[in-house]
Order: sequence, then structure tokens, then C-alpha cells
Amino acid sequence: MKEYDYIKREIKNLLDADRYIHSLGVEKEAVKLGERYGVDIEKCKTAALIHDCQKNLKDKDLIEKALFYRINIDKIQIKSPQLLHGPVGALYSKEKFEIDDEDILNAVYYHTTGRDNMSMLEKIIYIADIIEENRNYFKGLDEIRNQAYIDINKALIMSADSTITYILQRKNLIHPLTIEFRNSLILEVESYEKKEKKSF
Ligand SMILES: [Fe+2]
Ligand SMILES: [Fe+2]
Repeated sequence: MKEYDYIKREIKNLLDADRYIHSLGVEKEAVKLGERYGVDIEKCKTAALIHDCQKNLKDKDLIEKALFYRINIDKIQIKSPQLLHGPVGALYSKEKFEIDDEDILNAVYYHTTGRDNMSMLEKIIYIADIIEENRNYFKGLDEIRNQAYIDINKALIMSADSTITYILQRKNLIHPLTIEFRNSLILEVESYEKKEKKSF
């Protein structure tokens, strides 16, 4: 893997100023969440820093790069090519930053849609992306921010709900991975609460 400082310089070159500041905000938040949930801090930092590395690409270029990396483009991604910035970003990072850690790559790959059974690092990047300090305010953001440090799964359900509501209001397509993501979190919270009850 390339050195952290090298990756940081490259990210600064790849992104516009606002997105670079957002990426640093995600990194800061991911470090705090990593400490809270006992995840390797270096992994949190790297995954956060690179998560949007391909977000400045135009739709056409994202599709071209997805084809280059042999990503299976589904019909929802054809309609909303921006969904591809996660998958393309993961494969780009593997190639250019020589990152081989599957957990880091998955955190980048799935940070837009989510997926079922996410690792703690994947969850941290997903939620840090939403709650970092530079995020524009949306209704419910403060509750999600607080909940992220109490029960990350519940914070993820809240943000999946708000994402899905937003998509529905615009009558856009919902990616099936986002549905799987929400279902799996609800099941995870339920089974945890059942276990909690049994132990009393
Ligand atoms: Fe993103
Ligand atoms: Fe982001």
C-alpha cells in the first residue's frame, strides 16, 4: 500500500475543494467511530480518505471506467451512474494506491448503496459519510449523529430510512442493495435485542 501522505496528496488532486474537505471530515469522524467501536484506526483513516476518490468523474467517464474495471453495471447504475463512484473508487484505489485490504475496499465499494451484513468498518464509513461535520443539514441529522455513538445499527437504519424516503419523494429507483442493507440491519438489531432479553 502507498504511504498515507502520498494517498492524501493524490486525493487532493483528484477532488474539488469542497469534496476534499468533506473527505477529511469523514476521516475525522471515522477515527472517532473507530475508537468507539474498536476498529483499526489506520483502516478507518485510509478508507475514509479515499471513499469519494472517483466522485468528481462525469457520468460518461464513470461508466467507461466501470467497464474498464469489469464491474457488472446494473440497470439502476445505468440510470444513475453516480452510484458507480463507490465500485469504481474501490477498484481505482486497489490499482493506484495498491490497497489490498478487502475490508477497506468493500467499505469504499458499498458506501453509497450499503449491502447486507456489513463489517464494522463498512458501517463506520457509511455513517461517517453522512454525519461528518461539513455535511449540509437535513431533517433528522442530529438524531443520527447522536445515535451513531450509542448504537451504530440504529443510526444506519435511520439514515437508510431517510435515504429511501428521499428517493421515493423524487420517484427515483431504489437500488436492491439499499433494501438488503436496511433489512439486514433491522434483523441484526432484533436478534441483538432478543439476546439481551434472554440474558436477564
Ligand atoms: Fe460517496
Ligand atoms: Fe462522501
